[in-house]
Amino acid sequence: MLGRSARSVGKVLKTAELTRSFASVEKADCVVIGAGVVGLAVARQLAALGGRDVLVLESAPAFGTGTSSRNSEVIHAGIYYPPDSLKAAFCVRGRELLYKYCSERGIPHRQIGKLIVATGPPEVPKLSNLMNHGVRNGVDGLRMMDGAEAMRMEPELQCLKALFSPVSGIVDSHSLMLSLVGEAESHGATFSYNTTVVGGHLEGNSLHLHVCETKNLDEHGSGQFPLGPELILVPKVVVNSAGLSAPLLAKRFHGLNGQAIPPAYFARGHYFALASTKNRPFQHLIYPIPEDGGLGVHVTLDLNGQVKFGPDVEWIKGVDDVSSFLNRFDYSVSASRAERFYPAIRKYYPNLKEGSLEPGYSGIRPKLSAPRQPTNDFVVQGEEIHGVPGLVNLFGIESPGLTSSMAIAEHIVAKFLT
Ligand SMILES: Cc1cc2nc3c(=O)[nH]c(=O)nc-3n(C[C@H](O)[C@H](O)[C@H](O)COP(=O)(O)OP(=O)(O)OC[C@H]3O[C@@H](n4cnc5c(N)ncnc54)[C@H](O)[C@@H]3O)c2cc1C
Ligand SMILES: *[C@@H]1O[C@H](CO)[C@@H](O)[C@H](O)[C@H]1NC(C)=O
Repeated sequence: MLGRSARSVGKVLKTAELTRSFASVEKADCVVIGAGVVGLAVARQLAALGGRDVLVLESAPAFGTGTSSRNSEVIHAGIYYPPDSLKAAFCVRGRELLYKYCSERGIPHRQIGKLIVATGPPEVPKLSNLMNHGVRNGVDGLRMMDGAEAMRMEPELQCLKALFSPVSGIVDSHSLMLSLVGEAESHGATFSYNTTVVGGHLEGNSLHLHVCETKNLDEHGSGQFPLGPELILVPKVVVNSAGLSAPLLAKRFHGLNGQAIPPAYFARGHYFALASTKNRPFQHLIYPIPEDGGLGVHVTLDLNGQVKFGPDVEWIKGVDDVSSFLNRFDYSVSASRAERFYPAIRKYYPNLKEGSLEPGYSGIRPKLSAPRQPTNDFVVQGEEIHGVPGLVNLFGIESPGLTSSMAIAEHIVAKFLT
C-alpha cells in the first residue's frame, strides 16, 4: 500500500531515470532512513505527534530484513551495561515500553525469565558483578541462586551458581514490526521500499539527501557506483537509522564533519537450532557469562517452541558502502561451526546429544569498537555534535537495540524533534 507521497517519490524517480543527470529536487518534512525496528519505532513516534509528514525510505523490498530479523528476540532486562550508559537507560525504559505495547496490542511475547550461569569457580565472582550492574541499572527482581536451586528449576542445567532475572523475556519481532508499521501508516506515515539513500550533501546548514531506486543500483557490481542521484530530497528532519550501514552512509553526506563519524566494525553471530523440538530441554533463557564481543552462546526459545543456541562471535570484514546499503553481507552458517558450539553448550547442558544441532541463521552486530577494545555504547548524534539542524545519526545500535527501540524513539523525538 503506497501512500500519496510514496507514489510521488516513485513517479519522480521514474521521470528522473529518463533524465539521469538532472535529478529532481523535492522538499520533505521528516525522513527516516531504514525500516528496521528502530526506524519503525521512530517513524511511529514521529507520526503519532501529528502535524508531521513522515517518509520512511528503505532499500529492501520490505521492512525488517536486516538485523531486526536476525537476532535472539530476547527482551533484555538491562543487566550487562555500564551504569549511566545509553544502553542501560534505553534497555530498562525500552523493556517497560515494549511489554506494555505488546500486551496492549496482542503481540506475541512471554516474560519467561532468564538464568545467567557460572559453570566454573572463576566465573562465580563475575555473577556478583553482573548483579551489581543490574541493581544499579534499576533492574527489578534479580536474585542470586545456588546451583542446586537453579538445577531444580531447570533439570537439564549444570551450574555452580546462577543469577535469576525474572523480567527477561521473548518477543515475536516480526509481529512487533508489523504493528509499528501499521500504526505509523495509520498516523499518515508513508513507506517507500526499494528506495536507497546513496548519500547527500550540505547546502548551507541543510542536508540534501541523494536517493535512487534500489534496482538501478542492483544492476551495478559492488564497488562501482556510477549513478548520480535520481532524486534529491530536502527534509527538515532526517533520522539515519540505517543499522549496519549508518556510519557508511553518514560518510557519504558531503560536508558533514567526518570526525564525528565513528569507524564501523562487524561481528557476525551464528545460531544453531535443536533438530528435534519434541523435548524442549529448558523453560527459561539460559545464558553463560558474557564473552568479548557478545553475550556468549546462550539458549533462546522462540514463541513456536523452537530451541536455538547462539550467537557466537566472528569478527568479519565489512562490504563496500553501496553493497552494505543493499544488505549484501554474508549470512551463511557453515555446518562445521557446530564443532565449536557443542563444547560451549555442554558446559551448562552436558546432555546435549551429538548430532542434535542443525545450522540456523546468522546476524551481524553493528560494532563501533574493534576486537578486544571495550564495547561501545549506543551513539545518538544530534546537532550539538555535528552542527546540522534536524539530523540525527544512530550508530552502533547492536544488542539490546530490539529491547531499546521504543525508548530510543521516545528519546529522539523528545530531545531533537519536538
Ligand atoms: C546476533 C544478534 C543478536 C541480537 N539479539 C538481540 C536480542 O536478543 N535482544 C535485543 O534487544 N537486541 C538484539 N540484537 C540487536 C538488535 O537486533 C538490533 O539492535 C536492532 O535490530 C537494530 O535495528 P535497526 O533498525 O537499527 O537496524 P536494522 O534492522 O539493520 O535496520 C536498518 C535498515 O536500514 C536499511 N538500509 C540500510 N542502508 C540503507 C540506505 N542507504 N537507504 C535506505 N535504507 C537502508 C536496511 O535495509 C535495514 O532494513 C541482536 C543483534 C544481533 C546481530
Ligand atoms: C520492490 O522490488 C521487487 C523486485 O526487486 C518487487 O518484486 C517489488 O514489487 C517491489 N516492491 C515495491 C513496493 O515497489
